[in-house]
Amino acid sequence: RSIALIGAPGDVAAAHRGASMGPEALRVAGMTEALAEIAGEVVDWGNLTGPSHPGHAPVDGLRHLPETATWCRGVRDTVGEALATGRIPVLMGGDHALSMGSLAAASAHCRAAGKPLRVLWLDAHADFNTPETSVSGNLHGMPVAVAAGLGPPELTGLSDATPMVPAARFHQIGVRAIDRLEKRTVAAHGLPVADMREIDERSIRPVMEEALAHATAEGAHLHVSFDVDMLDSSVAPGVGTRVKGGPTYREAQLCMEMIHDTGLLASLDVVELNPAFDVHNATAETAVEMVKSLFGERILSRRPQ
Ligand code: ARG
Ligand code: MN
Ligand code: MN
Ligand code: MN
Repeated sequence: RSIALIGAPGDVAAAHRGASMGPEALRVAGMTEALAEIAGEVVDWGNLTGPSHPGHAPVDGLRHLPETATWCRGVRDTVGEALATGRIPVLMGGDHALSMGSLAAASAHCRAAGKPLRVLWLDAHADFNTPETSVSGNLHGMPVAVAAGLGPPELTGLSDATPMVPAARFHQIGVRAIDRLEKRTVAAHGLPVADMREIDERSIRPVMEEALAHATAEGAHLHVSFDVDMLDSSVAPGVGTRVKGGPTYREAQLCMEMIHDTGLLASLDVVELNPAFDVHNATAETAVEMVKSLFGERILSRRPQ
């Protein structure tokens, strides 16, 4: 299937400005060429446009809500168009709030097609804050909660089905930073999280097997939301919210390879890359290498086992 690359240079929902430079940094790191080589047909649809960062303080616990909603509607419509025309949308952010747009599109697409939707959320953070629990008011810390139906109607209403993705249909991998009150919401809603302790104790392969088992059993549409800060901060300094103690390059690469082996990857976000913090675009290059593994690059042509 052909791939539609969609740039969404929005950083209105992030703690630090600069994720708006993400799409271009990923292109400079060779995203288009890499996908063309591994996956076949790729069309770069260019960049969406939207509001720039207004620099306002939070209002009722939320910063830049109207601007974030505007960006997400644009993402939803364009990702929806890619899915409707049989393509795999690869959304290049931008901050992680944009995933509310791609999840709204994936959920509408799956409802129309009668397909189950599963979401793999690769992230250092749970992104399960609500205006009540968030310390920062930044909406990039809230997309999973919004998808699960918690949050302002301007965002939960991005899709006519609420929740667009019930909490139980997520699997989170690599999480190691959850805010104090956010933890309670994660527990209350039974969000499936494989944190770093679980990965350390069990190792990455069984954790990933379990995370992918439901999707495989259902033949689901698998949406992967790859927050680049999932990677250990020593491997991926070019992000706005760095957290130590994450998956190594090799662990993350195995995650990506195992996702590819399911054959279910149907839509992808690559978000939170912030070139303002990067070192010679190395994090963008690492992100492109991860995407190559997601789309099937192999060291040897061995069979999946
Ligand atoms: N939990 C923090 C917050 O709510 C950090 C969220 C970081 N999210 C991200 N997509 N990088 O502000
Ligand atoms: Mn994150
Ligand atoms: Mn499970
Ligand atoms: Mn995130």
